[in-house]
Amino acid sequence: MPDKVLTNADLEKMVDTNDEWIVTRTGIRERHVLSAEQATSDLGIEAAKKALKSAHADIKDIDLILVATNTPDTIFPSTACWIQKGLKAPHVPAFDLQAGCTGFLYGMIVAEAMILSGRARRILLVGADALTRITNWEDRATCVLFGDGAGAFVLEESKDESGMLSHFWGADGTLGELLTLPGGGSRFPASVETVANKLHYLQMKGNEVFKHAVKRMGEAADQALKRAGLKKEDIAFLIPHQANIRIIDATGERAGIPKEKVYANIDRTGNMSVATIPTCVQELKDQGRLKKGDILVLDAFGAGFTWAAVVYRW
Ligand code: ACO
Repeated sequence: MPDKVLTNADLEKMVDTNDEWIVTRTGIRERHVLSAEQATSDLGIEAAKKALKSAHADIKDIDLILVATNTPDTIFPSTACWIQKGLKAPHVPAFDLQAGCTGFLYGMIVAEAMILSGRARRILLVGADALTRITNWEDRATCVLFGDGAGAFVLEESKDESGMLSHFWGADGTLGELLTLPGGGSRFPASVETVANKLHYLQMKGNEVFKHAVKRMGEAADQALKRAGLKKEDIAFLIPHQANIRIIDATGERAGIPKEKVYANIDRTGNMSVATIPTCVQELKDQGRLKKGDILVLDAFGAGFTWAAVVYRW
């Protein structure tokens, strides 16, 4: 996460809001935001370096760079190519994958398929987003929700029983307008009008997103567990996408998982989109709370709408 921290007290000076409303409705107390000089790839490069170090892997051993993001540095080249440049990586394929806040789990599923098919041996998967760059700082209903960050995994074939056991994923494009950034693409190319109409900011029907998120994340976790032949009692940690503490709590309750097994860091991070799940995994690892063999359920929902769950044995 970038160094700069924006607290609820800071937001109180920017829009008509207060700490109590934000904490009660979202669980967020502070979030990290990019400095003016930084871009999404800068966060991704840092995360990638840490992941490579943690995996005792060299960038020269990576044969595919896959980046999940919704806030690319530029529409093109891809953020994956900017990250490849920043890492001084070999000329291996590099591309972005865009699937809303579900992007990191979609990335894991794609990476697994590439490895199983023999197309890639060792993949650097980065999830990096800077949602504060597409936030309307005059809209109190959305500007309190987001933070910036990145996470990364190095994925390769497992030598033992650990790794991805199953997944479930889906999408529903008919509901795309409930969470969208309409401007700057081919539908509404950037113009004086699109900027005046604030089309380059994230727009969201929060209540609707909330309802669909709880339903789809619950369903995805159930289905993925079923595919893995496991039960909720087998779960060591449910790691849901961090959009709102009430969505996180409701997903845990719906899945019948005790609260102490549902990991959340949203109070310190806000919603970092694709970065939420890898940073939660990293925190659990750093805290020494992951034991070999632990079953993790990673579960996400995002713009599209998209959703996915991955069952992973640590
Ligand atoms: N401070 C104070 N009051 C506020 C604020 C604020 N920051 N924002 C909205 N309000 C007011 C509204 O104006 C409204 O006032 P009114 O009753 O006088 O009209 C009142 O609070 C209630 O507003 P709602 O929008 O109904 O509040 P709700 O309880 O739905 O909470 C929230 C809004 C937090 C956005 C919630 O709907 C939510 O979390 N939705 C999920 C969406 C989400 O997290 N999306 C993230 C991106 S998608 C993803 O990551 C999956």
